[in-house]
Amino acid sequence: GIGIAITGSGSTVPPVVLDNQGLSQIVDTSDEWISTRTGIRQRRLAAPNESLRSIAAQAAQQALAMAKVSVTEVDLIILATSTPDDLFGTASQVQATLGATKAAAFDLTAACSGFVFGMVTAAQFIRTGTYQTVVVIGADILSRWVDWSDRRTCVLFGDGAGAIVMQASPVSDGLLGFELHNDGSQNGCLTLSYQPQPHPLGEIVTVGQGTFNPIAMNGQEVYRFAVKRVPEVIEKALFRANLTVEQVDWLLLHQANQRILDAVAQRLGISNEKVISNMANYGNTSAASIPIALDEVVRAGTIQPGDVIAASGFGAGLTWGATIFRW
Ligand code: ACO
Repeated sequence: GIGIAITGSGSTVPPVVLDNQGLSQIVDTSDEWISTRTGIRQRRLAAPNESLRSIAAQAAQQALAMAKVSVTEVDLIILATSTPDDLFGTASQVQATLGATKAAAFDLTAACSGFVFGMVTAAQFIRTGTYQTVVVIGADILSRWVDWSDRRTCVLFGDGAGAIVMQASPVSDGLLGFELHNDGSQNGCLTLSYQPQPHPLGEIVTVGQGTFNPIAMNGQEVYRFAVKRVPEVIEKALFRANLTVEQVDWLLLHQANQRILDAVAQRLGISNEKVISNMANYGNTSAASIPIALDEVVRAGTIQPGDVIAASGFGAGLTWGATIFRW
């Protein structure tokens, strides 16, 4: 079969920093509460003149530069996001900003699991021989969709974008296994939903006009879900990869909460030195968190070529999934 190589990574976050101290002037919270419960110390927030399009394109440009791939070679762009600039999709705009004239492009929505779902989608196009070069981007600007008066949610999130380049490889295969799951019956645990407001059209018909409900979350349910399902899905993906937990060099989880990372690592029997964590600086950046964290350790030289990474995304839907890959 056709192998897959991950040949580049890139990431970007907005320049504006809001630390826990600053947040405590906006809602009734404290640095102590936020850092002990979540491990988050600060987050980056997009200014009104920034766009999902621009941060997504910046992350992709960096990944392409690392991969030494010309943008005109890109066959497909998958943009995992829940916060597009345009509900018709932002991937086309990213394609234009990049100048990726040959590429097909679409948005993919699977909340905080979006990047993992995107990697798996990209892999199918490559394995079939359809496409050779795919850019997978995870990008979100959740600051535009949270209720800034709700301390239970607004303290958790930050904005950013990350990307990788996945390419067909005749010599090796770097995507070793994956597993994806959904449980829509638990959808109410974490929502960013529409609330159609009745809007009569004359006397003929009444339609629903869209207004949105900001992010609402049952934190304890989400915590329990993550700590149970994430170890399971990683074990299943490792089984498909024909690998054991001992062969994992790095655990790369969606950066939702340090306590979730610690609990998952403990359940899997993976030591803390192997757990990649950067949420102290960025909070939960949703679909962007895995590629941002990956790009940081790649550029720091922490991850070496050939290392085995177990990545898992989990979140609204509910959705969860894992990919096992070699850098
Ligand atoms: N500052 C101060 N106090 C707060 C805050 C805050 N920001 N938020 C809640 N509290 C209060 C509550 O009001 C409550 O007070 P009360 O007992 O007087 O009512 C108390 O703190 C405890 O609240 P809980 O919700 O029980 O706190 P918990 O220990 O469960 O921690 C947390 C909340 C951090 C959200 C936890 O449930 C968690 O980590 N859940 C996972 C959430 C998550 O990671 N979601 C994202 C994953 S999916 C995705 O990425 C989209």
